[in-house]
Amino acid sequence: MATLTILNYPDPRLHTVAKPVKEVNAEISRLIADMAETMYAAPGIGLAATQVDQHIQLIIIDTSKEQNDLLVLINPKIVVKSGLQDFEEGCLSVPGVYEMVSRAEKITVEALDKQGKKFKLNAEGLLAVCIQHEMDHLLGKVFVEYLSPLKRNRIKTKMVKLQRDR
Ligand code: NI
Repeated sequence: MATLTILNYPDPRLHTVAKPVKEVNAEISRLIADMAETMYAAPGIGLAATQVDQHIQLIIIDTSKEQNDLLVLINPKIVVKSGLQDFEEGCLSVPGVYEMVSRAEKITVEALDKQGKKFKLNAEGLLAVCIQHEMDHLLGKVFVEYLSPLKRNRIKTKMVKLQRDR
């Protein structure tokens, strides 16, 4: 296993649209293991393949307190959504920034698991937020794009400065 480099906003590669995974093979399994190591080390509760510059439809999530309950979603699709909730979100690609975002309260998602088996999951609260946030990454969308242009530009300037000073 290896820790991967996480792309930082406003890296243009974060706006790449991910392609579906054709086959859940050894290469995908290795990427899942590396992404999990990267997410836990950060530490974070969700990571999309897009964030490690792999542009395929793969996200991982772990919202458990013990960080021992890894959820893998390959080619995820939201089939039902309802309600609205506001949640303060953060992102490993936008370190140190936390902002309120409004998303569906409850979702039903269909995906393949790490073995390539199809499954359906009902999610609400933090888990629903997390899935929607990570799925946005697969569409090339970062959560700060929900904010006002003024706020987003401030964050962009801060991130560029942060990366320059590193
Ligand atoms: Ni994110």
